[in-house]
Amino acid sequence: MRFEYTKAGSGLTYEIRNIVEIANRLIRYGVEVSWENIGDPVAKGEDLPRWFKDAVKGVLDSSKAYEYSPTKGVCSTREYIAAKNNALGGAQITKEDIIFFNGLGDAVSHTYAAMHVDARVLMPEPTYSTHFMAEVLHASFPPNTYRLDPYNNWLPDLAEMERKAQQHKSIISILVINPDNPTGFVYSRELLEEVVRIARENELFVIFDEIYNQIVYDGVETCMLSQVIGDVPGISMKSISKDVPWPGGRCGWIEVYNAGKDPMFDRFINAIYRQKMAEVCSGTFPQISLPLIYEHPEYKGYLLERVNHYQKLAQTAVEELGKSKYLNVTMPRGAFYLSAVFKEGVLNGKQKLPIKIAAIQDYIESVLSDKDPFDKRFTYYLLASTGVCVVPLTSFFTTTNGFRLVLLDCDSARFSQTVRKIAESVDAYVESS
Ligand SMILES: Cc1ncc(COP(=O)(O)O)c(C=O)c1O
Repeated sequence: MRFEYTKAGSGLTYEIRNIVEIANRLIRYGVEVSWENIGDPVAKGEDLPRWFKDAVKGVLDSSKAYEYSPTKGVCSTREYIAAKNNALGGAQITKEDIIFFNGLGDAVSHTYAAMHVDARVLMPEPTYSTHFMAEVLHASFPPNTYRLDPYNNWLPDLAEMERKAQQHKSIISILVINPDNPTGFVYSRELLEEVVRIARENELFVIFDEIYNQIVYDGVETCMLSQVIGDVPGISMKSISKDVPWPGGRCGWIEVYNAGKDPMFDRFINAIYRQKMAEVCSGTFPQISLPLIYEHPEYKGYLLERVNHYQKLAQTAVEELGKSKYLNVTMPRGAFYLSAVFKEGVLNGKQKLPIKIAAIQDYIESVLSDKDPFDKRFTYYLLASTGVCVVPLTSFFTTTNGFRLVLLDCDSARFSQTVRKIAESVDAYVESS
């Protein structure tokens, strides 16, 4: 070979999927794995209802489903989305303000890739990995963050957000994930208005990842970006992966607010659009199906039932994990994740859980190093000892040690047992040294 032609990586790993490789190896040793790591309701056993499958089958009967679509996406679907947004009464858009992607992960990559290398986005900490990795890949250095406080119900530190927005002139945008992954935090309207104020006063645009906007628990109030944004430029990111749920459809989109009001923002959106044009378009089939699903008479009831189930599992998890004196646990208010945090100083690099088979013990030690965060060591031991697969919180780019689990088990009794097992393992692990 003439020279090293692989682009240097950032050294970051997507631990949500990385741990799957470890788990698959353990399965070969006979370990029965309980997958509490990936936010895919379908893979976790939610059976899609008949009406849903019938609606989608109907789309397949039309030749339209097999065509390329316009680069921005299927026109009638974009008109449908624009009308849905406009009915909320906030920032108004047309179909021209919407661009479809192959999943929101794809939209995230395109958005950060269109930024100048010196332009940075202020991110929550912890942050959902896809945003963080896309941001780091475009700029090569970790971004500035504002902390979500695990000791104050994951409330974002808006004073830190404002200070950094004022001081760091490379920051051009603020990212908000509402409802949040991995914490389950849901922003009140007042908090969202504050974020928009900070953006306005510092001449920033906002990026709101609203993929979980329809998964908000009973009694919790929030609103959409378009309802608070006023005249600030902004992007809302959405997808059918979680609410519908159709993650394998790889169908997400951005809605752009106030595009014409700022020439720099306008050029940025155009850069995203031009990149997409070079790829022709995103998948047509799920885009045509989207309005048929959201408007189906059964959809609302179906969604509500699922959200109530997630809330019930969240309560169970808070109750069971809260029994461990070594954890700090906050009740999520939306999405379908719970992040538990280890109390200060309870972890070290020597703790262990009993593993029955010596070969598994050797394997786990071989994939861990002294440099690994302590919570990663805990999650690998938990996996090897009990088969429960959760994600270390530090893999969401925070120094806070903990773990994230999904609230997606269809069987509530089995879920109770899983979280009980985790809580008991936390105690045994911490007390092992
Ligand atoms: C906050 C957030 N944004 C984006 C995505 C990516 O979603 P998609 O399946 O549409 O690519 C996820 C997936 O888990 C997510 O949690």
